[in-house]
Amino acid sequence: MRAAYIEKPGPPESIIVGELPTPEPTGRQVLVRMAAAAVNPVDTYIRAGTIKMDIPLPFIVGCDVAGVVEKVGPNARRFKVGDRVWGSNQGLLGRQGTFAEYAAVDEDWLYPTPEGVRDAAAAACALVGITAHLGLVRDARLQAGEILFVNGGTGGVGSTVVQMAKALGARVITTAGSDEKVRACRDLGADAAINYKSEDVAARVKEIAPEGVNVWWETLREPNFDQTVALLAPRGRMVLMAGRDARPPFPVGPFYVKGCRLVGFAMFNATPDEQRAAAEAINGWLAAGKIKPRIDRILPLDQTAEAHRLQEENTVGGAGTLAGKIVIKP
Ligand SMILES: NC(=O)c1ccc[n+]([C@@H]2O[C@H](COP(=O)([O-])OP(=O)(O)OC[C@H]3O[C@@H](n4cnc5c(N)ncnc54)[C@H](OP(=O)(O)O)[C@@H]3O)[C@@H](O)[C@H]2O)c1
Repeated sequence: MRAAYIEKPGPPESIIVGELPTPEPTGRQVLVRMAAAAVNPVDTYIRAGTIKMDIPLPFIVGCDVAGVVEKVGPNARRFKVGDRVWGSNQGLLGRQGTFAEYAAVDEDWLYPTPEGVRDAAAAACALVGITAHLGLVRDARLQAGEILFVNGGTGGVGSTVVQMAKALGARVITTAGSDEKVRACRDLGADAAINYKSEDVAARVKEIAPEGVNVWWETLREPNFDQTVALLAPRGRMVLMAGRDARPPFPVGPFYVKGCRLVGFAMFNATPDEQRAAAEAINGWLAAGKIKPRIDRILPLDQTAEAHRLQEENTVGGAGTLAGKIVIKP
């Protein structure tokens, strides 16, 4: 099969697109004929070796999967040949990745693709959708009527958090780096979108939410706790999920006196049951059209290195040239 893989960690150019043996599903694995996969920032960290994780070599890059069941392993029970499925959490914690014509995936990490939902949409919503649900529902316990803030409303995570928070009945404030992206945030359902390059974000949030923000979802790799804690409502929750090297100062007094909570998580550590609960809710919203994954562009497998470069330039370099997910069609 054709696959995008590395022989050792390195820059985007170390991605080779070539032939590898098609895997045989063993145990509870299911062989998926891949129709679409999305690029996530973590793919680039693993490829670059900046996150130390065991990887099988050659290592196929990528976490997300969407396609059709081609074959089932001897102990797989959840799916049959021909079923459309999606999932995530591959290419992590020692598991092989997905950017190939076929991927052998343990059935615990796969979910049925609802009728009428395209593979590209399912892939684009996989890792970011599960992340958004874990953070909003399991961790922050966002309630209908509450106010949620998220930075980067057209980003991979941000665009999903905006739509999911709306689906959960929250009022949503978000930011973006251009007026065009501000409009895109409103199209995604945000009640307020602030241009973080031309406006004073803290002043605007204070104006829109004078009683404070109930849930602050931080996508930035360098959070500003002084500013955020000041903008949180009493008993507000802050979600952290980016910035492994960040060591910012923290306003201890203002935080505990307000009774706030801080929660951090990495989606890949969530159990199969936790991820499945998220996926079931996502399937309901995808089927109802309440979540429409924002796809910036679709590229062929041959352009995986280019896709990694673009993702890195944006997530780490702040280029601002991306507005949503990059989807790869194997
Ligand atoms: N913990 C987990 O489980 C988990 C899961 C997924 C992702 N992540 C991490 O979360 C982060 C975001 O991921 P992603 O996929 O959403 O990346 P992304 O698609 O590259 O999005 C980054 C977003 O940040 C925005 N941004 C950049 N500088 C900003 C600033 N100064 N103020 C406000 N917004 C700003 C960008 O807005 P503009 O384009 O408008 O400039 C863009 O929307 C990454 O670090 C990723 O590794 C963690």
